[in-house]
Amino acid sequence: MAQDRGEFSSKLGFILAAAGSAVGLGNLVAFPVMASKNGGAAFLFLYLFFIAFICYPVMMAEISMGRRTQRNPVGAFSSLSDGNKGWRIAGMLGILTPFMIAVFYTVITVWLVVYLKEIALGGLDRLSTEAAFGEVVARPSLFGYLVFLLAIVFLILLGGVKGGIERLARVLMPTLAVMLVLLTFFVLTLDNASAGLRYYLVPDFSKMNLSVVNGALSQAFFSLSLGMGILITYGSYFNREDSIPKSTRMVAIADTSIAFFAGLLILPAIFAFDPNTNTDDLSTSSVGLIFSFVPQIFLSMQAAVGYTGASVVAFIFFTLVFFAALTSLVSIVEIPISCWIDELKMSRKKAVMLQAGLLTLFAMPATMSLGLSDFFTNFASYGGQTKSFFDLVSDVFYETILPFVGFTVCIFTAYRWKLSGLSAELSIGDDDYEGSRLQKYINFSIGTVIPVVLLAVFISTVSQIYFV
Ligand code: PHE
Repeated sequence: MAQDRGEFSSKLGFILAAAGSAVGLGNLVAFPVMASKNGGAAFLFLYLFFIAFICYPVMMAEISMGRRTQRNPVGAFSSLSDGNKGWRIAGMLGILTPFMIAVFYTVITVWLVVYLKEIALGGLDRLSTEAAFGEVVARPSLFGYLVFLLAIVFLILLGGVKGGIERLARVLMPTLAVMLVLLTFFVLTLDNASAGLRYYLVPDFSKMNLSVVNGALSQAFFSLSLGMGILITYGSYFNREDSIPKSTRMVAIADTSIAFFAGLLILPAIFAFDPNTNTDDLSTSSVGLIFSFVPQIFLSMQAAVGYTGASVVAFIFFTLVFFAALTSLVSIVEIPISCWIDELKMSRKKAVMLQAGLLTLFAMPATMSLGLSDFFTNFASYGGQTKSFFDLVSDVFYETILPFVGFTVCIFTAYRWKLSGLSAELSIGDDDYEGSRLQKYINFSIGTVIPVVLLAVFISTVSQIYFV
């Protein structure tokens, strides 16, 4: 059967789609909170350093593997190693990871849909109560929203790379950027906003320690959608006329700028809500913050703009987060689909159907993990805590495995595919690459410093999560 893999229509199409994947909850919520807790601008410098010197080379390696082979992660590892079984297994990790991330990311996005509906119906005050989140996530009606959301996601994916993924990103990414900027300007006009700005932007180097360094690297890694097989697959849809180094740079800049802007929005909003906020008390989990804390922040604005005004601002904010989550979700569900198309020689339509069935199957127990079912709510016990099915999937595939997948990409690129192969691919569509300082840096670091750092982060995360 003919394979309908698809291709992005242009460099801009690729950049928007990859940025659509990269911009997600990590940028809009996790980054601002991490930055404010860990030394403000000091954290920002560290983060930028990691983006430029560790993540950017790994991004290029992933994209090059995809474009070279025109394959999904399994196909890419396999074809560049002449069918070596061990490397094929490494490629499978690049499918399993996005497959499982999609499971819990779907559930979070379903909650966003419910919150949007509640706010639209005038329920911002109800969502701002302490018990609201626990009540929302245990509603049986979540299944209806789950089906609704998955129908949207799979309809988009049925449209293919150009007509589905790229078209969605072309509409949503500029909209998201405009909404973010407008909302930020609005929040900056509120009383006490400047206290939040100070917290965010004044560097405090005394907060730096090993765990902050570790956290900054992990955050940079998943914010750019690295180690999820996404960039390998998107690389396979990227044309050979354009430059990988330059396009990748644009994606990294877009992703980092959105994270930075989100900080300008969230922190002043928090301080306007409560001038005495102690950032040590802010939740570390972006999920907890967004669903439990953010509605209260918006409700508090009613003194200034009235209840309807506060609801409108909250609705815009949640729409923004929903758009960011939807483009990320679509990008991650595409990875197994590309695998079914390439490896099982399926048509896109069949592959989309297969993945729709599989994702629904796994998303059900994840949806039931927060109170709906006892079995899935108290699913496993490790690290001294009882964890739900949702937590388990998130801990393993989101918190832990990404640096390890990044490590395998580096080792594979440097020692199996070889640096000459990487350089040759990066020179296609880029006349400046050969002989550049960038090339020298990548050739030096991708098989040495970068995998060592990634392995260290992986080991320390494993010890923190599972063996405390
Ligand atoms: N890069 C996303 C973020 O910053 C992470 C992500 C990508 C999650 C794709 C799921 C799917 O939140």
